[in-house]
Amino acid sequence: MSNEIKTIAILTSGGDAPGMNAAIRAVARTAIARGLKVKGIKRGYAGLLNEEIVEIEARNVSDIIQRGGTVLGTARCLEFKKAEYQKKGADICRKHGIDGIVVIGGDGSYRGAQALSRLGINTVGLPGTIDLDISCTEYTIGFDTAVNTAMEAIDKVKDTSSSHERCSIIEVMGRNAGYIALWCAVANGAEDVLIPEKYDYNEQEIINHIIESRKRGKSHHIIINAEGIGHSTSMARRIEAATGIETRATILGYMQRGGNPTAKDRFYASIMGAYAVDIMLQGKTNRVVGYRHGEFVDYDIEEALQMEKGIDEYQYEVAQLLTV
Ligand code: ADP
Ligand code: F6P
Repeated sequence: MSNEIKTIAILTSGGDAPGMNAAIRAVARTAIARGLKVKGIKRGYAGLLNEEIVEIEARNVSDIIQRGGTVLGTARCLEFKKAEYQKKGADICRKHGIDGIVVIGGDGSYRGAQALSRLGINTVGLPGTIDLDISCTEYTIGFDTAVNTAMEAIDKVKDTSSSHERCSIIEVMGRNAGYIALWCAVANGAEDVLIPEKYDYNEQEIINHIIESRKRGKSHHIIINAEGIGHSTSMARRIEAATGIETRATILGYMQRGGNPTAKDRFYASIMGAYAVDIMLQGKTNRVVGYRHGEFVDYDIEEALQMEKGIDEYQYEVAQLLTV
């Protein structure tokens, strides 16, 4: 164990995600079990700059593993992109005796962690986002819960869509990535899926597909539309005009980001939280934790940010095959 790290802090940043609390709890309890002091930084990097720093004891993280959101609060803090504020953040860490920070968030949050690391504060990032859009990992905290929430909502829309013999366009979150949409397309048996990585904006093809399906006797037509494409309401109007079939748009929105985390999100977030503390104690800094090929791993932040990941071609093909 390194002698240098005596106190670590936890910070959540960017969009919240179910399972972040499980990660906070795991970081805190692992650190305490390893003999460290723990602090919580409220409201992401904004809270760091405002010195919103609280002591965390093992009991303070009781009864949070099952709760969505983040008990520390989160924020987007544009100031922290500037060198002067990053230096201020590092100075505040030193003032509060913080030797290392576990940052739970996405790519933007890792940039902040990287800056702090360069300024002498040990940092480890954990992948916290419902979007699954972090290249170095096959799992991100919150994705599983968000997909399950969206899937259940889409099942409900499908019931009413079938009863009224309507077409439904259901918009799911994901920022510029189509993972939530792709998973829902397969899990909900949707007729079409539009994702930024693949969609060619050929609306006529969708219209033809809807007309053919109706001729074959399908009572509904579910289109999952990723947020990165958007414009679901205007698309519904155009499709209704072209097909003569009543078409409704449903934008699921922020409900996908809330709610109690699934067992998978609680479990993976807990293991990753412990892992973050343990690699920091091994002397690692400027790292991000991931899950790849069946194991928990860690990468240099710069290396992780340079990685690319796309939609699995075979999974996308299967999503389309199964709609026939
Ligand atoms: P995510 O972490 O989910 O990608 P954002 O891109 O909104 O979300 O980033 C979260 C926060 O991380 C930002 O509000 C900002 O405080 C910090 N951040 C983002 N980009 C940088 C950067 N280039 N340098 C330092 N901090 C950054
Ligand atoms: O990154 C999670 C996410 O919910 C994205 O799916 C979405 O594009 C974005 O955050 C919305 O961010 P905000 O909370 O700032 O509206």
